[in-house]
Amino acid sequence: MAEGLNLVRVVGARPQFMQAVALRRELLRRGHREILIHTGQHYDEAMSKVFFDDLGLDRPDVNLRVGSAGHGAQTGRMMQALEQYLLDNRCDGLVVDGDTNSTLAGALVAVKMHIPVVHVEAGLRSFDMRMPEEVNRIVTDQVADLLCSPTETAMGNIEREGLGSNAVRTGDLMYDCFLHFRDRARKAVLEEMNLEAGGYFLATVHRSENTDDPERLENILEALSCLPLPVILPVHPRVSERIRQFAKRADSVGALRLVEPIGYLEMLALEAGARCIFTDSGGVQREAFFWAVPSVILRETTEWCELIEGKWSVLAGWRRQSILDAYDCLDGRFDDVPTQVKDDIFGGGQAAKRIVAAMETLLS
Ligand code: UD1
Ligand code: UDP
Repeated sequence: MAEGLNLVRVVGARPQFMQAVALRRELLRRGHREILIHTGQHYDEAMSKVFFDDLGLDRPDVNLRVGSAGHGAQTGRMMQALEQYLLDNRCDGLVVDGDTNSTLAGALVAVKMHIPVVHVEAGLRSFDMRMPEEVNRIVTDQVADLLCSPTETAMGNIEREGLGSNAVRTGDLMYDCFLHFRDRARKAVLEEMNLEAGGYFLATVHRSENTDDPERLENILEALSCLPLPVILPVHPRVSERIRQFAKRADSVGALRLVEPIGYLEMLALEAGARCIFTDSGGVQREAFFWAVPSVILRETTEWCELIEGKWSVLAGWRRQSILDAYDCLDGRFDDVPTQVKDDIFGGGQAAKRIVAAMETLLS
């Protein structure tokens, strides 16, 4: 390329830092410049700084420090600040990923300023418009100039919606990131937490549909607390207060052991050693698959259907009994769970290369 591109990358929430590091390495290698804008959607040290440290990701060039608020106020503040930045600075293309309010804000501001929008992790659908993420991703896909789809299923969704001519199947940046960091997983955390590989479960729960409804959250926590091995639950701050109430402010209840959110390298190690993972997280369910660890998905649907179609994951929803039944069903199959992931489902670690190549074609 004669001249590198000037790109703006908008991030804000925990999994976007992992996706950012994987892409940034390739962008810089190809001679492009990337301004990293952190909206400040996640701001606690354990939700933000720890990832920049673990990943060796440069500090954001700009932090909008928007913080927490309702959807409208949070997205609006991000848009206002992003618009001002883009008025003052040259930008050949703006890159967003996933389905958070930071994604939506970046995409809406850029499209109205006629700046090309690249959507990484495009085409995922739960077909449930009550999920804020579903709204964010559908709108972002509609306005994006380049849709980078992580899987064949996502590509199929894009084509059905008539957006196929702007789309490329690139693979999943989370998998690129996982491959880069898996050997650096901080295994010492198991000993520090008095755990043995295969002798515990790992759980995460943070989706609004599970955590804003006390009945759902209680069902999930009750199910986890009756499992036959200790369950490590790093608690997302949106639910910490409710979970502490459930646990009567103790650090454990039944099998459940509550811990603060942890860094990425520790999380990778805990995932690798878990007998099974219980989660409603998009990132954690994929990482379970990457490690070939079985998982129970605490949702009625998943955007990552490939996991269900293989033998790795079971959809359990939120009811206490259905979670326990899903675990029993998976438990009976533990010996059959493939120990090697089908690498090509998520792009074989080539997502960053393919995304950058597609951007060069679109934007040069
Ligand atoms: C957001 C994304 C979700 C993504 C998740 C990743 C949206 C609509 N949702 O959900 O898609 O899966 O990030 O983790 O964008 N809080 C803190 N400290 C922080 C951040 C949040 O205390 O650093 C608390 C606040 O009470 C806040 C609540 O968590 O109101 C929710 O945070 P928010 O960023 O709005 O949504 P998440 O649930 O994190
Ligand atoms: N993660 C982490 N520490 C935690 C919980 C999650 O490092 O305490 C990582 C996890 O390994 C994955 C990402 O955060 O890489 C997933 O983020 P999250 O579950 O918050 O969001 P989602 O993927 O559902 O959007």
